[in-house]
Amino acid sequence: MLATATLALPADTECDTVAVGLFEGKGIPHDIDGAMQALVDSGEARPSFRHLAVTHAAGKRLIVVGLGNRDDLTPERLRIAAASVQDRARDLGSRRLCWELPHKVGGEHAAALVEGTSLSAYRFDRYKTPSAEPRPRLHDLVVAAHDDHAETVRRALLVSEAVNRARDLQNTPPNDLTPMRLGDAALALAAEHEHLEGEVEGREEIEARGMGCFAAVGQGSHNPPALITLRYDPPGAVGPVLGLVGKAVTFDTGGISIKPAKGMSEMKFDMSGGAAVLGAVDAIAGLGLPVRVVAVVGATENMPGGHAFRPGDVLRASNGTTVEVLNTDAEGRLVLADCLAHAVMLGAERLVDLATLTGSIVSALGVTHCGLFSDDDAWAQAVGDAGSRSGELTWRMPLHPDYADLLKSQTADIVNVNEARKAGSIVAAEFLRKFTDAVPWAHLDIAGTAFESGRPYAPKGGNGFGVRLLVELAESLAAA
Ligand code: BES
Ligand code: MN
Ligand code: ZN
Repeated sequence: MLATATLALPADTECDTVAVGLFEGKGIPHDIDGAMQALVDSGEARPSFRHLAVTHAAGKRLIVVGLGNRDDLTPERLRIAAASVQDRARDLGSRRLCWELPHKVGGEHAAALVEGTSLSAYRFDRYKTPSAEPRPRLHDLVVAAHDDHAETVRRALLVSEAVNRARDLQNTPPNDLTPMRLGDAALALAAEHEHLEGEVEGREEIEARGMGCFAAVGQGSHNPPALITLRYDPPGAVGPVLGLVGKAVTFDTGGISIKPAKGMSEMKFDMSGGAAVLGAVDAIAGLGLPVRVVAVVGATENMPGGHAFRPGDVLRASNGTTVEVLNTDAEGRLVLADCLAHAVMLGAERLVDLATLTGSIVSALGVTHCGLFSDDDAWAQAVGDAGSRSGELTWRMPLHPDYADLLKSQTADIVNVNEARKAGSIVAAEFLRKFTDAVPWAHLDIAGTAFESGRPYAPKGGNGFGVRLLVELAESLAAA
């Protein structure tokens, strides 16, 4: 899908469909032949949020969408309304849609229209046999406004496309998206963007780096693990080096501590943190943001088998910490331990990791907020604010030495799970904290929000959660 901005009135564009928002107690701006007002007068068009009405005039389809109370209009509400309009426009067979930006709103609202449209138009049909008569798709979005929003629209489209590429990675089946294939996707990004360098290391290099925890998770699979690093270092960069770390378990069977069969196919999404990191780097480099980024993605399968690691094994992470494995299904924290230490070693001055880490965060927060854990209030605030702006909600969870005590091991420095299974998400975060070496760090547990979240502009399957948050965060570092 393309997106552009225009200063022209919607009626004067080449679009086959025009969308206009209707607020409570307000009229239709720039009506076309009085047709939209007629919809309002007949009661078909109503200002209640997301209510849709359709008519025709001047050779165009006209969609009137309710936007509720003028004072309640947030970018997120506009993303949701834009998704509703996009759904209807697709149904109507529209090719070119012109959205009239409500008067007297900011650039973030123009961006929201692009995001809501582009993100809701996404489909993953690569594995479907093409039908003989494919349905028409929305080709163009034109945002009509009285101010020039061309640059805002361009940026919002670029970021939305990076989200959609992250979704493609999430949705690709695990037989095709192996750890090394994810590495190939990262190298393709590095080839595509200036000032971005990528490297993919395999089993031998991971072992040679002393990453005993990461290597152990990967040892049960014939598909080798991949340690993916990307460095973005543009001229004129300002602010601290942003370290982005992603869990990319391309399939999590649980290993020897194997998961039940029901729903196991969803564990192809266990690479969503890594996909978000790659998507964010794609967008940050594409926008040319003046920030330095080091991204580390730990890609591996977690398989049972004759060569798999076992409950009882003691592993040594690259920072020297020894870990007693009590459950091989708590593999994400093992992968992240070595990846966080690696990001610190590569010079990260602020850390954010994203991981589908625990089922217990799904119990705690459902699909609405992801868990935010941090040892630094200012950094937690920056990460949470970035999520508020992007509509990817976070909820701060506690850390406390008492939780860290639950990681005490008889044999090694720490265990990988506390068997009482209390406060599972927090204990997992306390585990990660042992590998951040006092660099300000935030951990986002996205197990509930990364896929099947049921949000209006998210498709079924992977939704690219975190990409836009990370781009907002990088922008805030560049602006500070
Ligand atoms: N990948 C899972 C967590 C998960 C659960 C992601 C649901 C998405 C949806 C993780 O590796 C895992 O298995 N965690 C275990 C940890 C337990 C063994 C301490 C869990 O949450 O049950
Ligand atoms: Mn697991
Ligand atoms: Zn997992």
